[in-house]
Amino acid sequence: MRARFARIASGLAILVFCGGGRPGVARAQERIDLTVDASRGGAKISRDLFGQFAEHLGSGVYGGIWVGPDSPIPNTRGIRNDVVAALKALKVPNVRWPGGCYADDYHWRKGVGTTRQVTLNPSWGGVTESNAFGTHEFMDFLEQIGAEAYLSINLGSGSVEEASEWLEYMTTAQPTTLGKERAANGHAAPYRVALLGIGNESWDCGGNMSPAAYLTQLKLYSRFVRDFNPAQQDTAARMLKIAVGPGGGNEPRWTEWTDTIMRAWQGHQWSWDIDGLSLHNYTVPAWPPSYKSVGFGEPEYAQILKKTLEMDDIIKTHSAIMDRYDPQKKIALVVDEWGGWYAPLPGSNPAFLVQQNSLRDAILASLNLNIFARHADRVRGANIAQMINVLQAMIMTDREKMVLTPTYHVFKMYIPFQDATFVPVTFNAGTYTAGGVTLPRVDAIAAKDASGRLWLEVTNVDPNQPAEVVATVSGLAAKSAAGTTLTASKVDAVNTFDAPATVQPKPFTAAVEGGRITLRVAPKSVTVVSVQ
Ligand code: AHR
Repeated sequence: MRARFARIASGLAILVFCGGGRPGVARAQERIDLTVDASRGGAKISRDLFGQFAEHLGSGVYGGIWVGPDSPIPNTRGIRNDVVAALKALKVPNVRWPGGCYADDYHWRKGVGTTRQVTLNPSWGGVTESNAFGTHEFMDFLEQIGAEAYLSINLGSGSVEEASEWLEYMTTAQPTTLGKERAANGHAAPYRVALLGIGNESWDCGGNMSPAAYLTQLKLYSRFVRDFNPAQQDTAARMLKIAVGPGGGNEPRWTEWTDTIMRAWQGHQWSWDIDGLSLHNYTVPAWPPSYKSVGFGEPEYAQILKKTLEMDDIIKTHSAIMDRYDPQKKIALVVDEWGGWYAPLPGSNPAFLVQQNSLRDAILASLNLNIFARHADRVRGANIAQMINVLQAMIMTDREKMVLTPTYHVFKMYIPFQDATFVPVTFNAGTYTAGGVTLPRVDAIAAKDASGRLWLEVTNVDPNQPAEVVATVSGLAAKSAAGTTLTASKVDAVNTFDAPATVQPKPFTAAVEGGRITLRVAPKSVTVVSVQ
């Protein structure tokens, strides 16, 4: 089993945002000079940064994953085959489930066995919950797509006893009553739970607790919710426990939360421990979400991207607090909810958080993934919200139809960065101004994969001007560089069931001469190349 959240060696991203945008000068002429020393290596970019999140919310699970074994939609044991194939190709490392806010409404017993109780989903529209998709179905889904479980346990309306029994049910190899019940329900072998989220937004929908009140609960759940799987008892394979961390912001409310948990962790006794602290940060300029997910213009494009770049500062603020109590970076910061959150699509149920997914979201995703990569020494997990049909989704479905979103394509293009070693790059980003905001015009990261191959990613934020990025690479004799690029004619271009390939990656080749790589990237594009 691969070591998750591996401890990190040193390595800093060096990124220079120079104010190179001169009014009246054609910015296309401003070459971006980028330097990479391929012999240098930084932190490992954990593959868990590319995690997904599937909540019982709208058609995120029912319809999106689960159609039931009797459905005319092709499925394997009730799980749709088209969605499984698409997610398998994405190499999803882990899926967080069953919430979100719903996790604190969820009672696992109602979702196992032959007779499922029909309950309610009070968090998301008060709709009925069939509990047809429960523990076994979730683990079957994970097995089909090749991902690991990030289980979010109920700390709000549940109890320590309920959660500890859930873990015993799932993980014991002993003939206990719960272990035997799991076997009778079709799974004799213990399940593997890789990650355990102890509550969700306990400062809000998870119970509106103070940091101190949550800490009391955290200690109990950390102590008594155990993983019994014999294959996970050694350090490298063990289930990792993620505490509720701050919401997206640098305000005292959030810094106090991080400070309280980390201070307690520093002085913790043997009887409780954590491996990670979560951070939730959506790109939503104001509540309620009002930006349109399609049919918007350049000002809204720029404003949303400006907002999304706040992720960097938020991570820096909370990492600095964590550094005070954990200079060795033993505790991972896990951004287990992030993404663009816009106004619900007209005509949709507002409680189902249905929005379109445009080229802007692809660029938003690449900017965030690059931020995570630059902080890979501390940020060792992230889960975009959400996987299917909800918020910034990878996949959208409508009955038998399925379409891959621009965000899906970015995640696919970034696969080579999973578990790669971060390589620092230096560049003059230039500027791009619209909608009253100024942004870095270009972003870029580099990394080396396990075979030592160098990968470069370049995002051109400017929707009007192409960019010429000239990379000088040392520590490697570059002969060729090729990969894929993603762009479209408009910033709000989307893929639909009728036109699924409007935003689609295309082959891309860079010019290489004298060891210098010239990438001529299109306006509003995401490009990934491997250097040979
Ligand atoms: O992703 C939608 C919701 O956003 C989640 O349920 C909750 O944790 C967050 O507030």
